[in-house]
Amino acid sequence: MRYYPVLLDLVGRPAVVIGGGAIAEGKVAALVAAGARVTVIAPGLTGGLAARHRAGRFAHVARAYQHGDLAGAFLAIGATDDPEVNHAVHAEAVSVGALVNVVDDVPYCQFILPSILRRGDFTVAVSSAGHAPALAVRVRERLERELGDEYGRFLELAAELRAPLAMAVPDFQRRKAIWYRLVDSDVLVLLRAGQEMRARARVAEITGVELAGASGRESSAEIAGRSRPDGPGTVYLVGAGPGDPRLITARGLGLLAQADVVVYDRLVSAALLEQARSDAELIYVGKAPGAHCVQQDGINDLLVREARFGKMVVRLKGGDPFVFGRGAEEALACVEAGVPVEVVPGVSSVLGATASAGIPVTARGLAGGFAVITAHRAGPEDCHDWAALARMDTLVVLMGVERLPQVVERLLANGRTPDTPVAIVENGTLATERVIEATLANVVERAQAAGAHPPAVVVVGETVRLRGALTPRAATDLTADLSAADDRHVA
Ligand SMILES: C[S@@+](CC[C@H](N)C(=O)[O-])C[C@H]1O[C@@H](n2cnc3c(N)ncnc32)[C@H](O)[C@@H]1O
Repeated sequence: MRYYPVLLDLVGRPAVVIGGGAIAEGKVAALVAAGARVTVIAPGLTGGLAARHRAGRFAHVARAYQHGDLAGAFLAIGATDDPEVNHAVHAEAVSVGALVNVVDDVPYCQFILPSILRRGDFTVAVSSAGHAPALAVRVRERLERELGDEYGRFLELAAELRAPLAMAVPDFQRRKAIWYRLVDSDVLVLLRAGQEMRARARVAEITGVELAGASGRESSAEIAGRSRPDGPGTVYLVGAGPGDPRLITARGLGLLAQADVVVYDRLVSAALLEQARSDAELIYVGKAPGAHCVQQDGINDLLVREARFGKMVVRLKGGDPFVFGRGAEEALACVEAGVPVEVVPGVSSVLGATASAGIPVTARGLAGGFAVITAHRAGPEDCHDWAALARMDTLVVLMGVERLPQVVERLLANGRTPDTPVAIVENGTLATERVIEATLANVVERAQAAGAHPPAVVVVGETVRLRGALTPRAATDLTADLSAADDRHVA
């Protein structure tokens, strides 16, 4: 075993980060979140770091690294783009006995940073010993889809339960058996569904220990009864934008930085969540294809419940909250419960992913209008007017990868010509963005061959042709040997 895995308690310990660029940003956020006393030494800071510095999260020494900067440090991170500086940081850290990591330079690391999944106190660390961090990230992402916020909540219950259970059941073996019964029970499922009170009742049933609030499902009346005397907090339905964390609105970012509770979806980027207060409660309610998910009623109840506690709740939703995001239901639940709610629009993937791929949804002379649909309605319960949709200049289809054959078939059956250009934009605006270009005649085949997968928008219409002219990368791709298609463009 090359590395010995440990979890460090950094609360109050001095940590020094040398460098103020994009790489330092993530390291600083993680150190601050872990409670370290962080000092960043760098002549300048990225916008994100500067914002955190203004919020008092860490100290900043605005100059280049000098020998002596690591005096008293418990941990040091070399994150400049100058290997000489990074190596000098390493040498000083070793001489003062500080743990040191030089980013992306394994021989100069006494410790390496695993890919982390957190759900409250529940932590999963995945490491490839520095050989293939991308693999560790993918494994973590897979786990992220599986393991929701209920794991953190389970640990909160477990922390409450530990002492009373030890008193009630002094025999270690019996207690151990009870813990396994709890872990194997439906408590996690109830927590995932937002049914906290029922989960507590289940814990009481299994352990014989009554925790506060173990009486059963919390009713709306109970929730209302617990309103703080100074009134409920506000729920902000905030559009997080299509993927790139920089595409959230200034209003959305400001609210995110102040929220007590952030309730977020699967497509919301981790970099955005880092903008939340370090003591904010982050609650994952994402819906991964094929995995359990928190039911919509559970999410509505959660928003109302947290606001009833007087908390400022940011409900962070991918794209725009009112575009196929069930934002309307969440807003209505708040209104019905008398909880103030504000909607902060976001850049929808409808416009964000298409623009990022160089595809205008309207263009003088080519497209005078566009329509947006979800392909979920292209199933047996179809209620779209396909004749009208087939006549639209540009059609943008969300959630369209799975039902692409049905969408294509309906458009062709209603008179759209087979040579109409089509593009599938996967992971729009993200570093992993990929565009598959085709026509209505061959898009299903090409999507299959390229392994198209969600999240993706499908764009149908003549403006797809502008992509070559509007994105230099795409223009090069178009003239390149088609067999050498790269990972951003599969033609
Ligand atoms: C439940 S809908 C939510 C839409 C979101 N409210 C919006 O305004 O973008 C999810 C769908 O949005 C699209 N989508 C979201 N993010 C995307 C991205 N980065 N690239 C391409 N499509 C995306 C996909 O069609 C995905 O299946």
